[in-house]
Amino acid sequence: IKRVTTSTIKEMKLRGEKISMLTGYDYSMARALDDAGLDIILVGDSAANVFAGYDTTLPITLDHMIYHASAVARAATRAMVLVDLPFGEYQGSVENAYHAGVRMMKESGAHALKLEGGIEIIDNIKKIIQAGIPVCGHLGLTPQAIYQFGDFGVRAKEEAEAEKLKSDALALQEAGCFAVVLEKIPSKLAEEVTKSLRIPTIGIGAGNACDGQVLVVNDMLGLTKDFKPKFLRQYLHLYEEITNAAAQYVADVKSADYPNEKEQY
Ligand code: KIV
Ligand code: NA
Repeated sequence: IKRVTTSTIKEMKLRGEKISMLTGYDYSMARALDDAGLDIILVGDSAANVFAGYDTTLPITLDHMIYHASAVARAATRAMVLVDLPFGEYQGSVENAYHAGVRMMKESGAHALKLEGGIEIIDNIKKIIQAGIPVCGHLGLTPQAIYQFGDFGVRAKEEAEAEKLKSDALALQEAGCFAVVLEKIPSKLAEEVTKSLRIPTIGIGAGNACDGQVLVVNDMLGLTKDFKPKFLRQYLHLYEEITNAAAQYVADVKSADYPNEKEQY
């Protein structure tokens, strides 16, 4: 099977074919997603939330992300494996960003990196791209900056922030990014940015005009309890299904129904 690459992704925008992306954090899930024909598996630092149970993405480390990304990379035969650089690894010096990026690529087997932010980190992004590593940008609600935002609400509703986002998007394109994620911004703004760029936009809570869409896989499978923002479409209700299955198992063990004659040696 032919691997989805950064060229494939850019050609999709030219052809008008939408790009599909979901997060993945482990081998079993990544295999199923790859089999489904997903274009990109994002090893998101949302692992900090849905895998590890933190309130924010700040605590997850480079080592944690390498562990998740290597598991996903072993599973994906067709999908591009894109991985987040975690908080604190790329916002400081160019050298630190470069070394974090190189370590991730060497040790995880992922194909590309995603970094949150625009002009503030443009030199660091350029250095990573110069090393031969494909980079995807991420603008709008960038969760690593949650303590500056104060909440997980929609970003860039005001003129000033919208203007900055537009110039950040152009700066990311000029720096050589192959795509940019737009998170939780007005759909009109996402449409404007999408039309202004040659590189694809991949939206989450950013409307239908984006060149692709991404969701956190645990959320779209209904595995994240009590989380249903407006933008989320739930394809399964796994939390209830798993709870019901586990409760049935408990009952079967307690009643000594499991294992039966066919289920023993
Ligand atoms: O970590 C993540 O899941 C993400 C997506 C929501 C874009 O960055
Ligand atoms: Na992320």
